[in-house]
Amino acid sequence: MATTSTKSANSGGRNETDAIAVLTADHRTVKSLFKQFETLTKQDDVDDEKAELVRQICSELTIHATVEEELFYPAVREAIDDDDLMDEADIEHASAKDLIAQLEELEPGDDHYDARVTVLGEYIDHHVKEEEGEMFVKARKADVNTVELGEQIVERKEALTAELGAEDDSASVAPPTKPQAKKSGEKRK
Ligand SMILES: [Fe+2]
Repeated sequence: MATTSTKSANSGGRNETDAIAVLTADHRTVKSLFKQFETLTKQDDVDDEKAELVRQICSELTIHATVEEELFYPAVREAIDDDDLMDEADIEHASAKDLIAQLEELEPGDDHYDARVTVLGEYIDHHVKEEEGEMFVKARKADVNTVELGEQIVERKEALTAELGAEDDSASVAPPTKPQAKKSGEKRK
């Protein structure tokens, strides 16, 4: 829980609960998870690790997309007067969510599993470029209150993390550490 008060921080809004800083940190996190997945695709007998990584990727992205859609995008859309940019972001989220939903039903070794993760990573690369290269810059210029938004985002992320964690616990009988090997005998490709 972020307990340090940032309401009166007047250093240009760039602090740990600044919305743009929080979202940018999310981007770094998921990019590194995709990198780890890419490494795994070159190894054998790593289905468990892949499954765990993809669960992490899907939950990170779901939380990230939700706070953007619920909190960040509406505020930015109102402030920057660039509906095309925001519309594209909406559609990109829809495509990513579609792949996430597919991956949540699949497991390593399934047809086109790795390809789905790779393409999802490419969507996310593009998402990051658009946001960091354009949307965030415009939001800064438009004086969006990123500190207040950041506090809301951090709070919402905590709630969503708890929710998703609870869902995971009830939806699977997997032990808390690692999921059991499901189809360890099956070969990829
Ligand atoms: Fe983002």
